[in-house]
Order: sequence, then C-alpha cells, then structure tokens
Amino acid sequence: MNNINDCLNIEDFRIAARRRAHRMVFDYIDGGADDEKTLARNCDAFDDVELRYKVLSSFANPDTSTTILGEEIDVPFILSPSAGNRLFHTDGERGPVKAAEKVGTVYSLSSLSSLSIEEIASLTSGPKWFQLYIWKDRTLVKEMLDRASAAGYTALILTVDLPITGNRERDPRNGFTIPPKIGLKQIWHGLQAPFWCLDYVTKPAIRYANLSNDTPAVSLNDFVAEQLNPSFSWDDAQWLLSEWNGPAILKGVVRADDAKRAENVGFNAISISNHGGRQLDTSPAPFSCLPAIRDAVSDKTELIVDGGIRRGTDVLKALAMGANAVSFARPYLYGLAAGGEKGAIAAVEMLANAVKHDMVLLGVKSIKDIDSSFIKQKGSF
Ligand SMILES: Cc1cc2nc3c(=O)[nH]c(=O)nc-3n(C[C@H](O)[C@H](O)[C@H](O)COP(=O)(O)O)c2cc1C
Repeated sequence: MNNINDCLNIEDFRIAARRRAHRMVFDYIDGGADDEKTLARNCDAFDDVELRYKVLSSFANPDTSTTILGEEIDVPFILSPSAGNRLFHTDGERGPVKAAEKVGTVYSLSSLSSLSIEEIASLTSGPKWFQLYIWKDRTLVKEMLDRASAAGYTALILTVDLPITGNRERDPRNGFTIPPKIGLKQIWHGLQAPFWCLDYVTKPAIRYANLSNDTPAVSLNDFVAEQLNPSFSWDDAQWLLSEWNGPAILKGVVRADDAKRAENVGFNAISISNHGGRQLDTSPAPFSCLPAIRDAVSDKTELIVDGGIRRGTDVLKALAMGANAVSFARPYLYGLAAGGEKGAIAAVEMLANAVKHDMVLLGVKSIKDIDSSFIKQKGSF
C-alpha cells in the first residue's frame, strides 16, 4: 500500500513513509537510541492500562476541545517540535503547521527547523509555540527569543533531555549526516526511493533556517554538536525564563523531583517526555511517569504527555491518568514523509477523528468528563 488515502491508522502511514523516503531519512525519523527499548516501551506502556467505558451515556458528537496554557484548542493534543522537516519531504514544516491549523491546535516549531520562525508564522493563523535547545551562545538564544516573540509565538518550550545527542545506531549504519553524504550505499538506497531523490535534488536544499546564513551548510551537524551546552543548569533555566515574557514549558522530564523543581523555578507546564526514545535508552515511558508527576506538582502546573501516542485510545488514557493534553511527532512525520503536506494533514486528522470516535465509545460528552474512573491497570479488578 503506497497511497496515503489507503492508510487506516498511524502504522499504515509509517509503512507508506518507509516506502517513499530514503532509508536513512526513514530511519532517522523512526529510530531510537541503543537497543530502542525505550522507543518500544513508549508505545507499549499504553497497553498496561485498560479503558472502562460507561454504557448508556454516549453522545453522538462529543466536544473534543480543551485549553492548554490558556490556549483554546479543538483537540486534546498539540504537535511536538521536530527538527529539519525539509529532509523528510520537500514540503518541510509547512505540512505539520497546516495540519495543526486544520484540526485547530498548537504547532510547536523546533529551533532547528528548515523554515524560519518568521516563514512559519506567515503560514498559519493558528496558535504556535517555540522550542529551544540549550545553546552555548546566549546572544543566539536571546536573538531567537526576541524573534519568536515578535512573530507571535505565545509559549516557550525548553528541551532539556538533549545535553548531547543520543546514540542512534541506525544513523551511522546508514551513513546518515545532515546534509546527506552521497556514497555507494546512499545511491543504492536512493534507487529504492526515486520520488524522494527527485524531490531532494530538484528542490531547495535543507538548511537550519533559524541559524545565521553564514553557517556552512556542510558542517551543520558539527555546529549543532558544538553549540549544545551539556553543563546548562537550573540557574541557566531561570535566566532563560527571565528573558521570556510568556508561559514556558520544560520538555524532557521523567522524574517527579525534577517536575517539582521546574514548577518552583517558574515553568507553567511540564512536557513529560524522553524525546521519543531517541536519547537515554531504558528511560521510562512518559505515560508511566504521569501519576507520580501529577502527584508531585500543583494543579496549576499543566502536564503534557509526549511519546508513543498512536491511537485515539492512547490520548484518552493519558487524559484519564491526569494529563492536560498530549503531544506527538512521529505520527505527523510519517504522514509528511509519506505524502508531504497532504500526508501530514491526513495523519493528524485521523488522530483527531479517532479521539472523537473513542469518546463516543467511552461514554463521555467532553474532555472534562474524562477522569481516573475510566482506567484500570491490566490484570487488576
Ligand atoms: C525526527 C525527530 C526530530 C525531533 N526533533 C526535535 C526537536 O528539534 N526538538 C525537540 O524538542 N524534540 C524533537 N524531537 C522529539 C519530539 O518532540 C517528541 O518528543 C517525540 O518524538 C515524541 O515521541 P513520538 O515521536 O513517539 O510522538 C524529535 C523527534 C523526532 C522523531
């Protein structure tokens, strides 16, 4: 099956992405760190919990809207940030930003995007947040914050689970670099992905649009490795908050004590996340960290669960467990890699429809009706 119109679920989009994209590109999206145990666990954790639906209380058209950090959104999910989307498809970030606008939710832009802060802002009238990595260069950080604020990004996401990049073994095995190096192996794999190759060579090259134009294109990987600051501390996080005028989210937290500390230093929300299993392997699935973190922080600190969401039921389980919203990257990235903007929109709409459909089956009229009475641990009574 190659056609995005034939996709019935996110796994179908994944298969369609594998068919269209160059192997090194698909593996970059799909892969995780080391033995990929966390990558698998992120999805599997949802299977440990079951949904206890109510009977005779269904509603044909449940209300899937909610609010997150004061933003009214039509679905209880937002789009997680992801770097360099141009590599996956020539439509780049345009795909997911349009998908977010279509379903009425927040788009989060990675600081390592291939369209700039301003280009993205001009593409959407929907809500948008800006994600930042921990850069060594504070001038660059301040400059990016000012640009994001001026362009109408309302919240800041500080990603802290990437002091250095994880050991993603699929990438060196495929000879993957950004921009891609072309050797015999890449040509061989390229023959199996002719449409991706045609787009790649005939359309504008990948760039990290938020970095300065004189950053040499060949050394972007090195530049990123050099610029990430592994010794960034809580004091630095506090400095960053003082430079940002608006709500802020700390992304990459899996411990209750870190979540509490984030709340104390002034973050308004926590993204419980392990970077989609791409960083420290055997770290726990975000979904399984949710109860302890919910208990540790006050009700005013909002929680976003990020990692392994593939079905409407995953979204409902996270909400029932105490999340204010969930977020995801691979579902829209598979859509983008499989079919550009259309594919990203189709994948995100599919999840939006699944949430509504599953709310009818669960027997709830609105998101606020979903509570812990709807879940039970597998094997318990
Ligand atoms: C290809 C790819 C690129 C990513 N780039 C970023 C990034 O630039 N910034 C960031 O905070 N997280 C990044 N992430 C992590 C996602 O934001 C998110 O935490 C993770 O993918 C969630 O897991 P899921 O893909 O199972 O939904 C990236 C993930 C993928 C798969």
